[in-house]
Amino acid sequence: MQKKYYIETYGCQMNVADSELVAGLLEKNGYTKTNLDLEANIIFLNTCAIREHAEDKIHSRLGRLNKLKKNKPETIIGILGCMAQNVKDDILENKPYVDFVLGPDSYKRIPDLLKRQLIQEESIVDTRLSKFEVYENLFPSRNNGVNAWVSIMRGCDKFCTFCIVPFTRGRERSRSLQSIIDEVKKAVDMGFIEVTLLGQNVNSYNHNNVKFPKLIDSVANISGLQRIRFTSPHPQDIDDELLFVMRDNHNICNSVHLPLQAGSNKILKKMNRTYTKEKFMILSDKIRNILSNSSITTDIIAGFPGETEKDFNETLDVMNYVKFDSAFTFKYSSRPGTKASEFDNHIDERIRQLRLAKLVELQKIHTLHRNKLEIGKKVKVLVEKNSKKSKNKLSGRTDNNKWVIFPNNNINIGEIITVKITDARGISLFGEKIKMKDENYAII
Ligand code: 5AD
Ligand code: SF4
Repeated sequence: MQKKYYIETYGCQMNVADSELVAGLLEKNGYTKTNLDLEANIIFLNTCAIREHAEDKIHSRLGRLNKLKKNKPETIIGILGCMAQNVKDDILENKPYVDFVLGPDSYKRIPDLLKRQLIQEESIVDTRLSKFEVYENLFPSRNNGVNAWVSIMRGCDKFCTFCIVPFTRGRERSRSLQSIIDEVKKAVDMGFIEVTLLGQNVNSYNHNNVKFPKLIDSVANISGLQRIRFTSPHPQDIDDELLFVMRDNHNICNSVHLPLQAGSNKILKKMNRTYTKEKFMILSDKIRNILSNSSITTDIIAGFPGETEKDFNETLDVMNYVKFDSAFTFKYSSRPGTKASEFDNHIDERIRQLRLAKLVELQKIHTLHRNKLEIGKKVKVLVEKNSKKSKNKLSGRTDNNKWVIFPNNNINIGEIITVKITDARGISLFGEKIKMKDENYAII
């Protein structure tokens, strides 16, 4: 019988990379991938615990998988990732149809546990976190596409008071420079021309005193690699050295994700974010000055405990100052086990929702403003996929991480082409490919 696996991934890019790692392990052990849960012998949900909403999605998905298993009792169902720790008691008590609950540091055990599962009935639970596990010598089975995710460090030691990650993914640890270089080279040999270096706190990378600027500089020297991105950094660890390395390597993309979280110094302190709004604004100016035509994106939370209207308005002030190119905006979600969940001044749901709506509105204006500045420029675009919105059109990203939609004039996915930006609407840019013989200009 053919052994088939199916993995569903929730949450951040770290989880996408982890799912590819698990896929690699399963394929090494004779399983093949299917995109249909009904067809699979093993179904894994790789979960996210960062907000309540993310957890709710898993619970309702599990309900549906229970029904599937009633018709096909031999199917193995497993929960992987950040929710493992929180759900294990509930699973053991109430959801006997779940066979595995494995935290993010237990994936190497999967092949062995699968063999055991065939002879034992009880759920297998392993949510122990490791100080050392970095999955150094495993090679992920990558999804097709132009970008390869490469995880360079795991865990987080920052302990922002709202965030569950340090508890679900454990302490910071980094992979060796050599193993990262080897993995990137392999990805390039397979045809990937872009990599995104990943870590919960990517620029805290430190392996035997090799720090992030040295690592990314070394990756940039790999021949054939055309684009390098990284996510997610912490503003505290973005220094001049990193910005100069980015400036001096044409293949490191000029876009920085700079999570603001809040614009009031009082709230930033309560969040344990380690910077002030003034420092943040100076850093954003520095990024735009050192990296030409760069973009800055961010994460912002509305309604952290104790946030007054005045505090919230300071977040809007910082947004108005920086004018982010785009932003992920969230309403605060209380995560049991975090420090902030124990603060006594939680904000009413209705107010959090209203504030979130204001963030979204303001960001729309800034995104359009930033995108309009691109009109008339001729930019390099890496073609990534067929446009969802318009037939016969393709879409791809600029160096500074903006999506552009353009007509498909015999263009191949995976090519880097030059596009003249002709319009900016909503959150997208529109443009046209320019023929090589017309390329008599400097790329801006
Ligand atoms: N509530 C709302 N947003 C959160 N984030 C992390 N924890 C929470 C929470 N408890 C957001 C932060 C972070 C992003 C990945 O998710 O903005 O940068
Ligand atoms: Fe969470 Fe803060 Fe660590 Fe980011 S830096 S993963 S927000 S604790």
